[in-house]
Amino acid sequence: MDEFEAPILSIKNVNKQFGSGCEDCARMDHLIKNFCPTCGTVYACQNISFDLYPGEVFGIVGESGSGKSTLMRCLYFDQDVTSGEAFIRSYKHSKKNLFEESSQQKRFIRNHLMGKVYQNPILGLRMNFSSIGNIAEKLIAAGNRNVEEMESRGRMLLDHVNIPVYRMKEAPKNFSGGMQQRVQIAKALSNNPSILLLDEVTTGLDLSVQASVLDLIKQLQRELNISIIIVSHDLGVIRMLADRTMVMLDGKVVEHGLTDQILEDPQHHYTQQLVHSLL
Ligand SMILES: Nc1ncnc2c1ncn2[C@@H]1O[C@H](COP(=O)(O)OP(=O)(O)OP(=O)(O)O)[C@@H](O)[C@H]1O
Ligand SMILES: [Mg+2]
Ligand SMILES: [Zn+2]
Repeated sequence: MDEFEAPILSIKNVNKQFGSGCEDCARMDHLIKNFCPTCGTVYACQNISFDLYPGEVFGIVGESGSGKSTLMRCLYFDQDVTSGEAFIRSYKHSKKNLFEESSQQKRFIRNHLMGKVYQNPILGLRMNFSSIGNIAEKLIAAGNRNVEEMESRGRMLLDHVNIPVYRMKEAPKNFSGGMQQRVQIAKALSNNPSILLLDEVTTGLDLSVQASVLDLIKQLQRELNISIIIVSHDLGVIRMLADRTMVMLDGKVVEHGLTDQILEDPQHHYTQQLVHSLL
């Protein structure tokens, strides 16, 4: 990572709340974690800012409910932010806040500049389509029309993530959890995105399967020099992959820095607990 290089993605002051808030919400001592007991509003992401640099793996770690998936959904436009800004270097030279673009432009950004792997494969794949059909769908969304080209690209991608090509016509519902995540990864990579969003890719998989999916991500990152945001509640996963890490708690960033530094010298009490539970 070159520290003088411009970020490929900049996130500034992202807020996402579920509910419209009330007068009590503003009282600092009133919220229970990220939740207002008076009106039921959840402050899932509060003032989140970070930069992602070319070729780096950026980790986001935090306990269940800390807002990691909400943040990823906002970045991929699955959900609208309440407020905040996002800029991509290769999109209008970082001059336009992506969150304020039209839905057509957002679709363009999603299909050409980003790929996402969902925590739950049901959200990322059509379980009854063939695996290669899932990839074709993303290629078509980006404007491809040539069937032969799409088929050869699909074969190449599935082979790349170690799905045997003779199973490419099979539907993901027939695949194991690890294979489903591999198909999601292939699909996410189909349009050569510069940014890959990985939400708990290995959660729920057996340890040995987990290791092989993590190895695949490492290998892809080296080969493609893609920038990756990887979200996990498991600091072990983050330690293995991330150059820099941001720690979230109750919708807020409590700590960020080089992963090695965070592991060696965690500053926040919550991070200290996380690191100790790893030892
Ligand atoms: N559609 C929604 N409506 C209301 N609250 C929501 C909604 N989606 C998420 N939340 C709340 O936002 C908070 C953050 O949830 P989120 O899924 O982002 O957490 P997470 O860090 O990904 O957790 P996990 O590690 O369990 O996946 C939670 O309190 C959750 O209940
Ligand atoms: Mg989540
Ligand atoms: Zn309230």
